[in-house]
Amino acid sequence: MMIESPQSLQRLKSTEEMPGDYGLPWIGETFELFSREERFYWRHFHKYGPIFKTRILGQKFAFLFGPEANRLVLMEQSDHVSTTLGWAFLKPLFGNGLLFLEGEEHRATRRLMYPAFHGRAIASYFETVQTLVQAFVKDWAKQDSVSLVSEFRKLTLIIASRLFLGTQTDREVEQTSQWFLELLTGRLAVTRLDVPFTAYGRSQRARRQLVNFLRPVIQQRLRQGNLEASQDVLGLLLAAVDENGDRLSETEVINQSLFLLVAGHETTATLLTWLIFELGAHPEWRSRLRAEQAEVLKNEPLNISHLKQLPLFTNVLKEAERLYPPVYGMPRGVIKDIEYAGYRIPAGWYVDVSPMVTHRLPELYSDPDRFDPDRFAPPREEDKKHPFALVGFGSGPHGCLGFEFAQMEMKIILSTLLRQYDWTVTPERSSIAPVIQPSKTQNQVRAHFRPI
Ligand code: HEM
Repeated sequence: MMIESPQSLQRLKSTEEMPGDYGLPWIGETFELFSREERFYWRHFHKYGPIFKTRILGQKFAFLFGPEANRLVLMEQSDHVSTTLGWAFLKPLFGNGLLFLEGEEHRATRRLMYPAFHGRAIASYFETVQTLVQAFVKDWAKQDSVSLVSEFRKLTLIIASRLFLGTQTDREVEQTSQWFLELLTGRLAVTRLDVPFTAYGRSQRARRQLVNFLRPVIQQRLRQGNLEASQDVLGLLLAAVDENGDRLSETEVINQSLFLLVAGHETTATLLTWLIFELGAHPEWRSRLRAEQAEVLKNEPLNISHLKQLPLFTNVLKEAERLYPPVYGMPRGVIKDIEYAGYRIPAGWYVDVSPMVTHRLPELYSDPDRFDPDRFAPPREEDKKHPFALVGFGSGPHGCLGFEFAQMEMKIILSTLLRQYDWTVTPERSSIAPVIQPSKTQNQVRAHFRPI
């Protein structure tokens, strides 16, 4: 006779028993999700708790909130879910970028790309980024006010264009940025027909223009050789070779470079916007950061080795990531059944985990709506309560490849601004915080810089 373990006797509940509402036939709750964005998450979380079901564009979705859900979906059962299915709405534009690769193809490509995003490589980009940042912000005090998100979008795109596409001149930066922005508009296209005079058609034409720009650049770099000594991401991707002697093909380098642009541009601009907004409202933090910087730099220009010696910089960045994660939900298509919190979620469903909701759970973060970077300092270290408590850069096999790059870029920008300027922000923090819908509010945020 077989004796069943208590666990196997536990009945798994079906998704029909899960809280939530499928909404209208086929369309489900799509309109609410697309129009209210972050508010959709919060309304459902408050109504149903950390697990609920809904229907989006004909697909059944389970939203799973909290660090354990993050662990399961991003790491433990990441082979039961598909990023390609989850991010399908972006696939026609960035179809072969790293986030859309799975299994062995993903692992092999990521391994080849890894060296361009760590250690020595990051150090080799430092000067370029610093020079571009200094030139970009030098006249900010001459303007009455600066729209943070649009300026940071321009700046991060300039940096990305130089380092990921290998542009050399201002003209090339301007041209590639324009094509890239055109390409992005295709995200919003309802009809996806590649014909002229449609938003989607224009975005596909822009993609072809970028590809036509990159092909001769790559050929020239290959002819020049000495790629290992490159000081940009494009060169290091071309130089990458694995233990079997395999390399990324020209088309793969193009696809990955274009995807890097999308992965690193808007995200970094958004986080910087909220960082500068919070610091504008917290003069005590601007003073503490300046004091830390003065002590470490001792009037020298910032260099790469300083970046690891600035714990307050790290903590303000973590606090901006916690309160305003640019990627507030991470969708996945379920390809093998998963079990979570007593439910079986079958293949064919979709799941979505949320850094935004996780980051404001009071069981992880005390007074979660407060801007309080000291929560990351010892002895509190609230993010260490759970390995999946702070996931603004994702985690697991698809976790952000550009994490170190983004940290370097944001620290250079922060350091440059703190050295040159003091600033205030509008609207007043007290009139908009806690900011429930950063994606819709960010366009209003302006900063007023004055030299110090
Ligand atoms: C503040 C800035 C950034 C944030 C908040 C951010 C966030 C994220 C998140 C949450 C993911 C995982 C998405 C998922 O699992 O569904 C991700 C993936 C990725 N990010 Fe970032 N990112 C940032 C900047 C960058 C930069 C600057 C780059 C490039 C230099 C970059 C390159 C990538 C790549 C290539 C992936 C896909 C990794 C894979 O699929 O293996 N990111 N990022």
